[in-house]
Amino acid sequence: MKKIKFQDLSEREQNLILIAQKAQERAYAPYSKYKVGAAVLGVNGLIFRGCNVETATYSQTTHAERVAICSMVVAFGVREIKALACVAKDGGAPCAECRQVIWEFCGGDPNVKIIGANADLSEIQVFTIGELYPYAFGPKDLGIEPEKF
Ligand code: THU
Ligand code: ZN
Repeated sequence: MKKIKFQDLSEREQNLILIAQKAQERAYAPYSKYKVGAAVLGVNGLIFRGCNVETATYSQTTHAERVAICSMVVAFGVREIKALACVAKDGGAPCAECRQVIWEFCGGDPNVKIIGANADLSEIQVFTIGELYPYAFGPKDLGIEPEKF
């Protein structure tokens, strides 16, 4: 993990974080009050956003990262990401279940960057998916080459 300042990120990464920050405003989190926004950069160069959406029954909550990935898949059939950014109150990294889903769409590259930021972007942490999910279980364990398109 590397702590970094917003201005030291590439323009493309800054843009990704700004979109995640905007998505955080849309979060529907009346129960936890913990709003999360995410944005993924697909291999086709387009960015897709997501936010967490909670329900009164709690367990149907969808996580921002997975919403962003699913919108990428449904919008253009893109199945590979180049980077993912997430924004939450105090920053932080995606949960374990999101890490599994993110890995599915990393095209087997453990160096895909996961950028976590707090709400005002004053604290930014850059991880790789390999760091967050070492010895990952993935498509290769089932003898499957992930379908990219
Ligand atoms: N949350 C996410 O959206 N992504 C994560 O990976 C961590 C947790 C959401 C789920 C719930 O709405 C709130 O944050 C508190 O757990
Ligand atoms: Zn999650």
